[in-house]
Amino acid sequence: MTNIRVAPDVAALARQAADTIQDVANTAISQTRQFSIALSGGSTPKTLFDLLAAEYKQKIDWANSHIFWSDERCVPPDDADSNYKVARETLLDHVPLPASNVYRIKGELDPAEGAGQYEETLRTYFHDQLPRFDIILLGMGDDGHTASLFPGTEALTEMERWVVPNHVATAKQTWRITFTVPVINNAANVMVLVAGSDKATRLKQVIQGAYMPNELPSQLIKPTDGILIWAVDHAAASLL
Ligand code: 6PG
Repeated sequence: MTNIRVAPDVAALARQAADTIQDVANTAISQTRQFSIALSGGSTPKTLFDLLAAEYKQKIDWANSHIFWSDERCVPPDDADSNYKVARETLLDHVPLPASNVYRIKGELDPAEGAGQYEETLRTYFHDQLPRFDIILLGMGDDGHTASLFPGTEALTEMERWVVPNHVATAKQTWRITFTVPVINNAANVMVLVAGSDKATRLKQVIQGAYMPNELPSQLIKPTDGILIWAVDHAAASLL
């Protein structure tokens, strides 16, 4: 099932996303006493992270929440480009979350080693079953990439491994570590946060255009037994 939810602005987008995370967390914890979420990187989630830190300390049972990342840049955890660093500084350091519930991707390691270690982390947490996250957060780049699944890259067609290194020529010739499509599409909920008019053309192509997943990797995101939420602001949705 796919929902397209349009919020008037970034603040309202963050509010809607925070409420969705609260609902999914409360349901998961009432059913299994634990909640698993994978965070995305980039700039769009910052407003959400700030809001969660400011107003959701008591509304979410952080003690039973387990925090993962859907992708990471291959940099140390204190690097300005680190997705972990952004989330730690804007959210994780401000909520009552046990350090043992935070599973960061080790971007400082050799990319293949970092990806391999993170797959082992997922195997341990999900007891060797294909991970089924309660919710995975994603973004979308203006080139149509999501997580670190960039157009024309090797990771797009990986169907066996859960986490892979991915060399991205278009992102400053860097290595990334990313969830693969099977992991993302096995989630109970996937929420893609997209904001800004610079994303409007690409978003229309991804949602309403021809199916071209090698050029528009965000089109690969179709949960097999879950909900896909396009959480977008008015500016990004202006051409839909
Ligand atoms: C990353 C992300 C990436 C991001 C998009 C959108 O590590 O960069 O996980 O997939 O979500 O690039 O980024 P913005 O939110 O900055 O537009």
